[in-house]
Amino acid sequence: MNTIRFDYGNLLSSRVEGGIDERQLATSLADRFRAAHAAVEARRAQGDLGFLDLPYATESVDRVTELADGFAQWFQDVVVLGIGGSGLGATALKEALLGPFWNARDEEGREHFPRLHVVDNPDPHTFQRLLELLDPAGTMFNVISKSGTTAETMAQYLVARDWMESAVGQDKARGHFLFTTDPTRGALRQIGEAEDIPMLSVPENVGGRFSVLSAVGLLPAAVCGVDPRALLAGAAAMEERCRSDQLAENPAGLVAVLLHQADQELGRPIHVLMPYADRLRPVALWFQQLWAESLGKADSGPTPLAALGATDQHSLLQLLMEGPHDKVVLFIHVENPEAEVAIPQRHPEIPSLAYLGGHSMGELLSVERAATAEALRGAGRPNCTLIMPRIGGEELGQLLMLFQIATVYAGALYGVDPLDQPGVEVGKQLTYGLMGRVGVTRPEMLDPDSRWIV
Ligand code: PA5
Repeated sequence: MNTIRFDYGNLLSSRVEGGIDERQLATSLADRFRAAHAAVEARRAQGDLGFLDLPYATESVDRVTELADGFAQWFQDVVVLGIGGSGLGATALKEALLGPFWNARDEEGREHFPRLHVVDNPDPHTFQRLLELLDPAGTMFNVISKSGTTAETMAQYLVARDWMESAVGQDKARGHFLFTTDPTRGALRQIGEAEDIPMLSVPENVGGRFSVLSAVGLLPAAVCGVDPRALLAGAAAMEERCRSDQLAENPAGLVAVLLHQADQELGRPIHVLMPYADRLRPVALWFQQLWAESLGKADSGPTPLAALGATDQHSLLQLLMEGPHDKVVLFIHVENPEAEVAIPQRHPEIPSLAYLGGHSMGELLSVERAATAEALRGAGRPNCTLIMPRIGGEELGQLLMLFQIATVYAGALYGVDPLDQPGVEVGKQLTYGLMGRVGVTRPEMLDPDSRWIV
């Protein structure tokens, strides 16, 4: 298996002014990591960290494959309805492994697999436009909600169900739905059981943002021909690498410890994840949720920021280079882009274009990443790079597992529970109250004061 590597040289004081002292890595930070590792292992032993078991959940993968290869192939369009951890993972897998413009390809280009749409926000404009595009007879909705009650997803489900029933009739409509939800609880489970709708379970001990390698992410990907076993093999390999309590051997440990240290000791709480590959942009957004919702607690925690190289060199880089010293950049470099576009030699008479000819677009992107890392280093801005040999199932499985394990280590280092999200619940309860949910008191909202509105 091609292994992901982590280059953290540009975080160390020997290479970057104001970096982390390398000796600390072998001493105090190694000790701190051993304690964090032990705390995580204790939670694992209690059965709290179900995401670590997902690579080995063969029964659930068999069920995913059965539904993806059978039922789902009756449709031309599969629409995932899910938000937060129930949507971002599916988008990350879709973009990384199916590549750009999947839905724009013709049947042959998609090898006769369905188009895949992931809709998270209940923005009426988007939803209406999507429904206008779809043929109900050829559409299946995979409704994903661990709790089975999230307002945004449930609203989308109700609209989609109505739309489907009015097109194909009440009896046939339920054959166009697949639910992915908690094994026992929630409205979705209740409806699925009452109406005999096919269902996939998210294990009890796997929370939304740690569920990408469960049926939540695997089913949508497998529907389009992605091999879930390759993803899980990669994830298993990373999980095994991260069993070591030796910091120097544990890539997720190093990511967690170094980013935590950058925040706490170097005053760099803004953690920018910047892949140099369009296909990984949604992975950066998935990471943003994972890092923010897991660690932003008890008045502390880092602020993740998803970026894209080289695009954001033209929007964020000035700030990263000369703005406040409060950021650390984590690049992702893909060694083999697996598509090469040669840049032709035209205009030899114009030096500002001539130098590009004879190179390739992949080379340009790769050089830009190296140049940006070096420029940041030279300006006293610590940065580091995850190196992916290529973007395949195994490599992506490793990457996603690495980030999830790093998150639970970081939770231990920050002294917070990375698995809960009490702050999100407050907003949810207010929404329920304002929308008139029975049993939830309508909240008293401060009246907008006209003095402040122009
Ligand atoms: O990570 C989480 O737990 C959240 O982001 C949830 O995934 C999100 O709120 C959606 O919840 P649910 O899957 O219950 O609909």
